[in-house]
Amino acid sequence: MKQNMLMAELQKKAEACQNCGLRKECNQVVFGEGVLGKGLMVIGEGPGQEEDKLGRPFVGRAGRLLDMILESAGFSRERNTYVANIVKCRPPGNRTPLPEEREACLPYLQEQIRLAEPKIIILLGATALQGLVDPKAKISVSRGRFQEWQGIQMMPTYHPAALLRNPNLKALVWEDMKLVVDEYRKLVDPNHYSEYH
Ligand code: URA
Repeated sequence: MKQNMLMAELQKKAEACQNCGLRKECNQVVFGEGVLGKGLMVIGEGPGQEEDKLGRPFVGRAGRLLDMILESAGFSRERNTYVANIVKCRPPGNRTPLPEEREACLPYLQEQIRLAEPKIIILLGATALQGLVDPKAKISVSRGRFQEWQGIQMMPTYHPAALLRNPNLKALVWEDMKLVVDEYRKLVDPNHYSEYH
């Protein structure tokens, strides 16, 4: 598929990128992975320690939780979801990426979105919400409601790392995921199977 080739080319470009200071401090670029053209994309903040080591997004503790949440709703990066981050290089000590680092990385994410062709994007946490949609938005206020952005339905919700710190948030994320499943059935696949909804 042409989109896969273009994504591989974009990945090569990102791997050679020196547009901000993060590349010098990380082990490798963590570009993104998953299936293109199946309607769903998930965007996180940036690679952590495990991701930096393995070169894949969401493979640490938060990533395993994300995979479980997605799976409960009938989604996975093997079948129907593309997963990426606001920044592709790990910020030192896992600090939040700076606005200029987000800006430097944004063209890659915009191109990933164009090639993944999602109808729905799940924004995980404040950095994803602010980095892509609205720098002033608050995740606690915006979560749980779809908002349209460039013709795509965006669902902000809490980041899985926040759920690990505060398990009370899990119920809210599941409420948000049920809305994602409903919207996915409406926009992408009326027969979409989800174990719990
Ligand atoms: N947290 C993120 O936001 N992204 C990852 O890839 C891993 C952890």
